[in-house]
Amino acid sequence: MRALDLSGRTALVTGGNRGIGLAAVQQLARAGARVTFTARSEENIETAMESLVGVVEGRVCDVTDRPAMADLIDEGFDILVNNAGVIGPIGRIGDVSAEDWARNIETNLVAAFHAIQVAVPGMVNRGGGTIVNLSSGAAHRPMEGWSAYCAGKAGLAMVTACVHAEWGAHGIRAFGFAPGVVDTDMQGAIRASGINPVSQLPRTALAPPDQPGWAIAWLCTPDADAMAGQEVDIRHDTFRRAAGLEPLA
Ligand SMILES: NC(=O)c1ccc[n+]([C@@H]2O[C@H](COP(=O)([O-])OP(=O)(O)OC[C@H]3O[C@@H](n4cnc5c(N)ncnc54)[C@H](OP(=O)(O)O)[C@@H]3O)[C@@H](O)[C@H]2O)c1
Repeated sequence: MRALDLSGRTALVTGGNRGIGLAAVQQLARAGARVTFTARSEENIETAMESLVGVVEGRVCDVTDRPAMADLIDEGFDILVNNAGVIGPIGRIGDVSAEDWARNIETNLVAAFHAIQVAVPGMVNRGGGTIVNLSSGAAHRPMEGWSAYCAGKAGLAMVTACVHAEWGAHGIRAFGFAPGVVDTDMQGAIRASGINPVSQLPRTALAPPDQPGWAIAWLCTPDADAMAGQEVDIRHDTFRRAAGLEPLA
């Protein structure tokens, strides 16, 4: 993975204390951006900071806490990575509660929408900005037992497209980024559920988070301009060629 230059940029990554979010924070900081990440406790920030170098700051904030997120975003960022997400409730439609279902949508979709809504006017005033929304194959394909997750990610893909339609001409580059099947705690929860083919994948078949983290940072460079407004998938040849990643075996 080649070196990227994001010096002079400021970035906010939600849910940056572990998994793909942490890898994105690492790669954005390595590229020279000043990175702020959110986590839900000071303890989680301290743990994440042990693996981080560069200009990085952690802030305690739940993405569903709209006033707190608005206060943080008002500080002004060039890059917003809507990474925080939950898989549950895992269960067939007849077995999950509407309250748990709504909580998923609140985290995966409404919170990302709200962060964009607050972040973009400042970005436009400063001449432009980048939004990366963490997407998934589940945004485009139904998966048994994941109705909330699929619906939330499908909705987020449409938000990405709407951001492009409304603000693409004003310097806002929005991407939906599917990171592949990545070895994180989320995949641990999926394996434990045993409910669909993804849960049957052995851990050895999963990708490490560092390449998706690097790809998120790459999307924040002008090299990705031609993909603005799109859903991109790290497993697709077109994306890998454009980003200069080796083809998958
Ligand atoms: N792993 C995969 O294979 C895969 C595939 C496709 C898409 N994705 C997407 O990639 C993103 C990251 O996934 P991951 O696998 O890295 O998941 P993960 O290991 O479970 O980490 C999720 C992160 O989101 C945070 N988070 C969850 N709810 C939050 C809330 N209400 N407020 C603030 N932070 C919150 C978590 O914070 P806590 O530590 O406090 O819980 C954690 O930092 C998600 O959007 C996911 O849907 C993942």
